Parts: sequence; structure tokens; C-alpha cells
Amino acid sequence: MKPEEIVPFFEARAKDYDHAVFQDRDYIAFSKIPLWMIPALKTGKKILDLGCGTGLSSAEFFKCGCAVTGIDITPGMIFEAQKHPFERLICQSLEEELPVETQEFDAAILLGVMEFIHRPLALFAEVRRALKKEGLFGLTIPQKLSPSQEKQLDIFTYEEKASQQLFAEAGFRVVYREEFPGFTSAGIEVRYDGYLLEPHHLVYTQIH
Ligand SMILES: C[S@@+](CC[C@H](N)C(=O)[O-])C[C@H]1O[C@@H](n2cnc3c(N)ncnc32)[C@H](O)[C@@H]1O
Repeated sequence: MKPEEIVPFFEARAKDYDHAVFQDRDYIAFSKIPLWMIPALKTGKKILDLGCGTGLSSAEFFKCGCAVTGIDITPGMIFEAQKHPFERLICQSLEEELPVETQEFDAAILLGVMEFIHRPLALFAEVRRALKKEGLFGLTIPQKLSPSQEKQLDIFTYEEKASQQLFAEAGFRVVYREEFPGFTSAGIEVRYDGYLLEPHHLVYTQIH
């Protein structure tokens, strides 16, 4: 999907988004990954929800008293998200510098969003900057479709090898991975690889 097509696409779906998710019972990532993360939070409860949509992906974090900042490009999604107790909501593209402090967050999530991201390495670099040293990054990556299916849905999908390369280049390492159903669109089933990542810190030793 071209960047300029993303806002109209989600603007048209914002009002009914939660209803559609609960009715279809197809998209489960929004609660599955936060439930992996909550017991694993090491440093605190300040969360960054990237592509927060209506706020569903932060629901589990609200339940356990986390302070959540949400970012989304679609004004209609941000309008719906205002119904939840976000500490801060920002309407902007994730493909621009994020207006957050360095090492501000204990965890970040990117759920149901990678399929729309054109420059993932630049985004991951920003996520790494925003996370504390022992922070956690939970995300979904849509598994590779055939070229014709990818074209039909107009999304980005990934071979596992490409995801691993992206993580390594951005300075993350995999803590946990599990595959599960993503969503179905136009009769095409998309499966997700769900990941928990943590920043990788290289240790240099001097060789004499
Ligand atoms: C499928 S929804 C997922 C929403 C939420 N994370 C959830 O799990 O319910 C995808 C969201 O990503 C947002 N989005 C897509 N591309 C974006 C971008 N480049 N920058 C910011 N938000 C983006 C859309 O506006 C939409 O709200």
C-alpha cells in the first residue's frame, strides 16, 4: 500500500475496527503478544504502542496499570483511541523520527503494522533508541505470501531469514518467536510470526 493510501484505508475502518476484530475472532495478536510481554517486563511499565489503532493493542497494558504512549498515522484511529487511558497520543507516521526521548520506554509494540511499513530498518532504529537497555520489543511480522497474493492484498510480507537480518541490522536479538494466525483478507489467510526482541549490546574486548 502506498504511504498516501494508508490513511484513507484505515480512516474508512476506524469506527467499526473493534467490532470487526471481535466479530471475526481472526486477529488475535493484539492481546496475545502483550500477554507474553507483561510478565517479562524487567525495568518498569512505560509502553510505546506503535500503530496503536483504536487502542486494542494496549488493552492488556491498561489492565495492569501501564503508562502507554500511542502513535498512529490515521486521525480516525487516534480519535477512537482517546476513549482509552493513554498517557499520550500522537498522530504521525512511524516512518518519521519519533517524538519521544531516548531510552524513555520499558517496552514497545508493533502489532498488525509491519505489513504497511516501507522502511522497517529506519523504524527499528527509532524503536531501539526509544527503548531502555533492557527493554522489550513485541511485534508481528506477516509470513511471506506468493507475489500475486502480496500484490492482491497490497502489503509487505517477509521470509523468516529477512526478518532475522532486519533484527540483526537494527541491533535486536530474538527472545521468543511463535507463529499463529494473523488475519484473512479477500479469502487469503495471512499468518504472523510473533516475536519478542531485546536490544543487543555488543561487547568489545581489546585484543593484544
Ligand atoms: C491493523 S491496525 C492495528 C492496530 C493495533 N495495533 C491493533 O493491534 O489493533 C494497523 C494500524 O497501523 C496504522 N499504520 C499503518 N501504517 C502506519 C504508519 N506508517 N505510521 C503510523 N501508523 C501506521 C494504521 O493507521 C492502523 O491504525
